Amino acid sequence: MHYDPRHRPPELRHDPFKALVVPRPVGWVATLDREGRANLAPYSFFNAVNERPPMVMFSSGGGKDSLRNIEATGEFTCSMACFDQREAMNMSSASVAPGVDEFVLAGLVPAPSRFVAPPRVAGAPAAFECRLWQTLQMPAPEGRAETGNTVIFGLVVGVYIDDAFIRDGLVDTGAMRPLARLGYMDYSAVSPESVFTMNRPVASDDRQSATLQPGPWDGVYR
Ligand SMILES: Cc1cc2nc3c(=O)[nH]c(=O)nc-3n(C[C@H](O)[C@H](O)[C@H](O)COP(=O)(O)O)c2cc1C
Repeated sequence: MHYDPRHRPPELRHDPFKALVVPRPVGWVATLDREGRANLAPYSFFNAVNERPPMVMFSSGGGKDSLRNIEATGEFTCSMACFDQREAMNMSSASVAPGVDEFVLAGLVPAPSRFVAPPRVAGAPAAFECRLWQTLQMPAPEGRAETGNTVIFGLVVGVYIDDAFIRDGLVDTGAMRPLARLGYMDYSAVSPESVFTMNRPVASDDRQSATLQPGPWDGVYR
């Protein structure tokens, strides 16, 4: 099939869009409201968008608590959601009333941040502490009254990594088992077995061709 996304073929029971942009990391966003009450929710429209300075973004559909809190305080954290905490991550997505602390709801412990006020998720192997840089209003769906998503861009002002996952000066991402959101209610997880390395190709002197560099990563960034 090959179609205009405004007219999904009837044989597709649900919109496959998110099943086709995979795997998506899950940013587990913690914020504080004006009264200092914690809020936690997972976002899979989440990614890195700049390296120097490091920046992340996530996209909020509708007026959610995370967005409201970030607009009020300018700060958030993104913990890495991993396989061991998958059920707590799922529970923290419950559509509970503003002011309900999803750390408590999901049986999680908040760990203090260093550079921002919102905590991170204790037990998550990594987290970013972020300051709001900018929000961006996305287009509304054609012909519908609802508004589009709001994308929140954050500057990473602090990085937490559980030292147990640092080996030989590198982060062992596979051992962290980060969750990957797929489509529908599907998930996957990165594991040590699913990680492999490839060296970047080397361009010829005249830069008209390139050769692959076989074998495991030789430790050189090209
Ligand atoms: C794995 C996962 C990923 C999600 N990703 C998003 C997302 O990218 N954007 C969004 O608006 N909601 C997303 N949700 C739903 C929110 O987590 C949910 O609406 C939550 O109640 C929002 O909480 P808040 O109002 O405290 O911010 C996701 C839920 C799950 C379980």
